[in-house]
Amino acid sequence: VAKKDLSALFLHGLKDINFTEHVILDSLPIMADAATSPNLKKAFETHLQQTEGHVQRLDRVFGLLDEKPVQVPCDAILGLIREGDEMVEKFDGGRALDAGLIAAAQAVEHYEMARYGALQAWAEELHLREAADLLRQTLSEEKQTDLLLSKLAQESANRAASG
Ligand SMILES: [Fe+2]
Repeated sequence: VAKKDLSALFLHGLKDINFTEHVILDSLPIMADAATSPNLKKAFETHLQQTEGHVQRLDRVFGLLDEKPVQVPCDAILGLIREGDEMVEKFDGGRALDAGLIAAAQAVEHYEMARYGALQAWAEELHLREAADLLRQTLSEEKQTDLLLSKLAQESANRAASG
């Protein structure tokens, strides 16, 4: 891949994940509101704070490239968020709601991990060390969130099954 092409790909990916992070910022309060378990509510609230940091890091990466923090709409994240909304519509008030919310949230985390993994690798390849560091920090927070959700998934599945 020519360096010019990889730069263009990198910039496009940044705009895409920037849109994603903003969609997630809007979605997490709804997820926190819907969650039954206090631990899950707290996990969503904590991740909301982290997500504000993710947006700030992206702003810095755009700044390093002398670019504006543009957002490019991405259907993939809109579909994943829609699935979370459907969990609330279908399972609200039931014992399986938390398990459904967690599964939807983990799909979002895995999507973000895939995107940040690629972006970080491209930043390394382009010798954008500071950008790569910032992207790696966010990637690691997404991974931690995914691990926490896996733990909570076990609890919530137990609870749902005991109903
Ligand atoms: Fe994020």
